[in-house]
Amino acid sequence: MKNLLSISDLDQAGIIEVCDLTDSFLTVTHRDIPKVPALRGKTVASVFYEDSTRTRLSFETAAKRLSADVMTMNMSSSSVQKGESLRDTVQTIEAMGVDAIVIRHRHAGAPNQVATWVDLSVINAGDGRHEHPTQALLDVYTARRHLGDDLSGARIAIVGDIRRSRVARSTAKAFAQMGAKVTLVAPPTMLPDSLAGWPVTATSDFDEILSDVDLVYLLRIQHERQDSMAFPSLREYVSRYGLTNDRATRLGPEVLIMHPGPMNRGVEISPEVAESDASIITEQVENGVAVRMAVLYLLLGSGAPVA
Ligand code: CP
Repeated sequence: MKNLLSISDLDQAGIIEVCDLTDSFLTVTHRDIPKVPALRGKTVASVFYEDSTRTRLSFETAAKRLSADVMTMNMSSSSVQKGESLRDTVQTIEAMGVDAIVIRHRHAGAPNQVATWVDLSVINAGDGRHEHPTQALLDVYTARRHLGDDLSGARIAIVGDIRRSRVARSTAKAFAQMGAKVTLVAPPTMLPDSLAGWPVTATSDFDEILSDVDLVYLLRIQHERQDSMAFPSLREYVSRYGLTNDRATRLGPEVLIMHPGPMNRGVEISPEVAESDASIITEQVENGVAVRMAVLYLLLGSGAPVA
């Protein structure tokens, strides 16, 4: 595999291969010196046209722990501000001898377009409302550590602004690919117009499914991708779709809570639920570094065993 543009680039065996390799890299991240020479001599460029905390730092940490050199493009001081096109930008980066570009862009399909312009590896770090494949991989990896390697039949509710969420699109596909039963939960204005291509069911009644889930995956409202208000008020949204303390008491004792971040505490999740034992949100972030080490290794490594 040369690029990772969509979670659909991986079948179930491919996702399991990433998860198995992640186990090895998670061990590396727990060492006193969390570094292996696997990608020594390789260079990874991090090119983020949209804001990010987790994904950018996680990829950069992953690359450094594999001993790759990392180039970070600072958008606000780059020649993008002078009008340089995406094509000229990525071809300039390629000319410097870079081996992989990790790209986030506000336009859906931008990473796919970049992959047609350059010969190096392209990794999609989130494109518009379209896809966020490494988020999906770290979500599956984290869920498997708690629910077991076999996710078939696991009942997963993805709750929130599904329509505008690239995370929902990739993560729902990944969980379904692993055999889980995925339900999208949102007001009709936040559900996709059509479920064609979504291997899921959908409901607008969060309360109805509370007693019937193993994992609740919450999403924030994507204000930056919202053309108009999708609900009458924030208060009404919280009352119907927020994982409040009251709703959390109606979940089974073993139910897990996940969120890709950034969270809006007090909106889609109460601060107490975010900090509760059921929440594995911080673990998602921790696993994200090892998952991205696995992805970089699969795309750029020699295939030799991890040292
Ligand atoms: N989950 C995620 O993509 O977070 P960032 O926007 O901080 O990268």
